[in-house]
Amino acid sequence: MALIEWKSHYSVGVDAVDHEHRELIDLINQLHENLLAGSPDLMVTAFLGEIFRAISAHFALEERFMREHGYDQFAEHKQAHEQLLDEIRDIMDGYEADPEGTSQQLSDRLDAWFTLHFRTHDARLHHRLGTHDH
Ligand SMILES: [Fe+2]
Ligand SMILES: [Fe+2]
Repeated sequence: MALIEWKSHYSVGVDAVDHEHRELIDLINQLHENLLAGSPDLMVTAFLGEIFRAISAHFALEERFMREHGYDQFAEHKQAHEQLLDEIRDIMDGYEADPEGTSQQLSDRLDAWFTLHFRTHDARLHHRLGTHDH
């Protein structure tokens, strides 16, 4: 089962950006599948680390793009990114206390965060400035 499903309300209304967000979600799901295929206890920490890295890489790209264009809401947007990364760190820290709940917690957090962030910050950014290069 996918950790997180693409939903139509994730769309920011710019095809190239939606495509990138789908790729990010596919990558997260792929990492989750790898986790399920292996021995979970040994791999969860590595899995969470990989998710963290994939999401940070996407954020870093957006942040560079915003900086290059002198984007007016750079600070707020970056702060929202930091908040999700902090939440993922908290989930990583909480894993030992609640190993079973970790995947569910992560999937709920990502869904809630993507729903809000894509629709607000990312939609505004990409409608103003278009799509960044890779
Ligand atoms: Fe994005
Ligand atoms: Fe963003």
